[in-house]
Amino acid sequence: MSNNTIPMIETKPLSMIINGEKVGPMDVPVDMMMIDFLHEYLDLTGTHFGCGQGICHACTVVELQADGNIIESRTCIYGAHFFNGKNIITIEGQAGKDAEGKATLTAIQQAFIDHFAFQCGYCASGFVAAATVFIDRLKKQPIQRVNLESAIEDALNDHICRCTGYVRYYEAVRQVALETPGCVIG
Ligand code: FES
Ligand code: FES
Repeated sequence: MSNNTIPMIETKPLSMIINGEKVGPMDVPVDMMMIDFLHEYLDLTGTHFGCGQGICHACTVVELQADGNIIESRTCIYGAHFFNGKNIITIEGQAGKDAEGKATLTAIQQAFIDHFAFQCGYCASGFVAAATVFIDRLKKQPIQRVNLESAIEDALNDHICRCTGYVRYYEAVRQVALETPGCVIG
């Protein structure tokens, strides 16, 4: 008889809200990263794995906080259980649907398309998350027009895109900021 034993994978219950739907409780390995949970357990594969080290921000999702603010969260450097009880929006939850079931893009998604902001699109879901958080912040804390360019730079600066020159992403976000009432003053 063999002395080999099959290693046990330690799990514990996990639940959260993803794209407005309650998920769990379900048993999830304690050391599973959030991006793997999204991909393997929920089939939400629009969040992309890039560097896996917290640098490229391709894996960023939006996190809704209890105070109503939203922040960016990277899913490659935090375990799934870090998000237990949290409220997350992935790229799959950004677009809505009209009465006929057709996708209705957010202003940011539409602007990225209109400006041809991405090429391969690997970084795009992370940029959508960053721009969504940025525009939401501007709605609550408008800025002067003169400060807009540097504010966009600060908001997108951490996101790496290997295909484009970033300019079209910046132009798209600028357009949304200028066209969204209350974001830019003066
Ligand atoms: S894949 Fe998460 S920061 Fe690069
Ligand atoms: S569009 Fe290819 S990495 Fe950004």
